[in-house]
Amino acid sequence: MPHRTITLSQFILEQERRHPEASGEFTRVLTDLALAAKMINREVVRAGLVDILGETGTINIQGEKVQKLDRFARDVIYRVLSATGQLAVLASEEDEDIVPVPEGQPVGKYVVNFDPLDGSSNINANVNIGTIFSILPRISRDGNGDLADCLQPGTRQVCAGYVMYGSSTMLVYTTGNGVHGFTFEPSVGEFLLSHAEIHIPERGRIYSVNEGNYFKWGEGIKRYVDWLKAEDAAAGHPYSARYVGSLVADFHRNLLYGGVFLYPGDRKNPKGKLRILYEAAPLAFVAEQAGGAASNGRQRVMELIPNSLHERTPLFLGSKRDVEDCELFVQEKHPAIRVDRRAASPARTR
Ligand code: AHG
Ligand code: MN
Ligand code: MN
Repeated sequence: MPHRTITLSQFILEQERRHPEASGEFTRVLTDLALAAKMINREVVRAGLVDILGETGTINIQGEKVQKLDRFARDVIYRVLSATGQLAVLASEEDEDIVPVPEGQPVGKYVVNFDPLDGSSNINANVNIGTIFSILPRISRDGNGDLADCLQPGTRQVCAGYVMYGSSTMLVYTTGNGVHGFTFEPSVGEFLLSHAEIHIPERGRIYSVNEGNYFKWGEGIKRYVDWLKAEDAAAGHPYSARYVGSLVADFHRNLLYGGVFLYPGDRKNPKGKLRILYEAAPLAFVAEQAGGAASNGRQRVMELIPNSLHERTPLFLGSKRDVEDCELFVQEKHPAIRVDRRAASPARTR
């Protein structure tokens, strides 16, 4: 029986019928994000052909050189979403402050926090990059949305997901009823259901981290990564190291194959590099809905309440058992540490 061809829009409507409890009003926001993704995808795949590469020469709030595609992606998403009447307010990696709905446009019920282009440093190398989005209900009562509307914990998200632009462009999202993946079919201009009900293996054999930071990490993470690399057939070690440097690409591979992504804090950046609102929280929602986990080493990422738009967090994300091991190492509670210590200090002779 050939696989039924279901577009993203058809799937969203079917989901609404199957889960009446999910109001689905944010459906319009999700379908508009899919439209923006198609427009960004068109530029990303042509990036090598048109003079859109290179840097705009401006510096964004993160102090990083803004590549033209970052700005383009941010503007496309802003233009498409702010005309829907669904939005109360936006926040993005490329904007220092919240972005209100334009004058004269109707103000709606939803907040979108997004990373317009994730993995920007990979743009010129034609390595997969992505867009990450998080949709929340506003908490302010009326008028334009405000900062508090954006600074909500991940548990308040009604929808989250990502687009990954590459050899095939995919959109993966959750509304709290499982994780579903769609592959863009350029010939019909539609995202077609290709990965229904994605489940991440409970334990993987892959770890993804920038080991160039190893000597800046705390002891817990060093021990954890050393443990993953040690020869121990019974434990299924060593794991394989896979690191693309685009969070969306590293996460997507681990979501399908199993594995753990780590971006720890370190001596220079105790909170690490990744931002709660538009990187950690949305991917945490997807990971948990796929049966995985997301932690900052001590707490569920989904429960973190950011104090500012660009607040960072250490991020351990992926297969449930692997994230648990990582937390136990960070908290110096993993049984392997005690064994290690006993081995390191042989029993005193009487
Ligand atoms: P962005 O391009 O949105 O700033 O995100 C880049 C992030 C993330 O995609 C990736 O996991 C991480 O930067 C890689 O950082 P390092 O180069 O320090 O490993
Ligand atoms: Mn990013
Ligand atoms: Mn980005």
